[in-house]
Amino acid sequence: MRILVTGGAGYIGSHVVKELGRAGHDVAVLDDLSTGNSWAVKYGSLIVGDLADEQMIERVVDTFRPDAIIHFAASIQVEESMRNPLKYYRNNVGNTLNLLKVASAFGVSRFVYSSTAAVYGIPETIPVDESAPIEPINPYGASKAMGERVLGHLADSSDFRFVALRYFNVAGADPDGELGQAYQASTHLITRALKTARGEFERLAIYGTDYPTFDGTCIRDYIHVSDLASAHLAALDHLASGGGSEIMNCGYGRGYSVREVVETAKRVTGIDFQAFETDRRDGDPPALVADSSKLRSLTGWTPRHDDLEFIIGTAWAWEKRLLKRMTA
Ligand code: UFG
Repeated sequence: MRILVTGGAGYIGSHVVKELGRAGHDVAVLDDLSTGNSWAVKYGSLIVGDLADEQMIERVVDTFRPDAIIHFAASIQVEESMRNPLKYYRNNVGNTLNLLKVASAFGVSRFVYSSTAAVYGIPETIPVDESAPIEPINPYGASKAMGERVLGHLADSSDFRFVALRYFNVAGADPDGELGQAYQASTHLITRALKTARGEFERLAIYGTDYPTFDGTCIRDYIHVSDLASAHLAALDHLASGGGSEIMNCGYGRGYSVREVVETAKRVTGIDFQAFETDRRDGDPPALVADSSKLRSLTGWTPRHDDLEFIIGTAWAWEKRLLKRMTA
């Protein structure tokens, strides 16, 4: 298939592009390189452009004529979305509309969308399945929920079909060591913990110790980025074989607390880095764990790296490689 991947130079997108290339698909990446890197695009061609520019999208789609689009390009940090909501509505809703408008005009009817567990807000039941109420508690989650709605309405009104994957906490790095989280300003827990172990930060903040969880810190379902990548290929296969529009959770179905992640990071790195307890961070739900049975049963997706030590181990190998690259 010919597949256009927006945001394909970023952390998750680059892992998916690698899997697509290996599977023999013809890939074009469209990325503004605001958080991604051209070296991370291991297959296909890279077009540097901003999805705010509808005419540019038209030119790209007209030239490449994709059979399907995978849409990663978005702003993704919960905390930033609390401070700068307009950025999130503009990038995640406005730009998605631009892309969909062009996709419709050119008859591209298969679409895989990056959604998020943040659409659930504070779920009543854990693990949470896709039928749970959509009640986001931050602009990031709200912007992604809006994207899902738009996709649903477009599918209702045409032959357009989509799979929206609701990602839980994506972490780890390519086991071959070629790719990983390279965005220096990433605020995600595992990246932060490893950068602290590496000496880039003096101490790691543990945000909130009074949550209603077993040890007072937030619980998340950490999924290895390569397993998330294979879920995208499974979603494409689903659409290619005539499957209908679906929204599916993407996680392993069990959670770890912030403290457990910190302890595991210390064990994996062998470094007893400093961590300190501080106030809750705005916009954080206490626990997010996926019920991913729909993805497994509908597409046959089988994760291969459901192991926190492996996730952190691959991320640690990548952090050390990044440091070498920066100091070379
Ligand atoms: N945390 C810390 N210290 C840090 C960084 C994070 O204690 O330095 C805590 C957070 O408060 C949170 C947990 O670690 O409780 C995980 O935080 P991340 O920033 O790693 O990830 P989030 O859970 O905030 O968000 C991520 C993605 C979202 C997605 C969400 C779904 O960024 O896109 O997972 O589970 F919606």
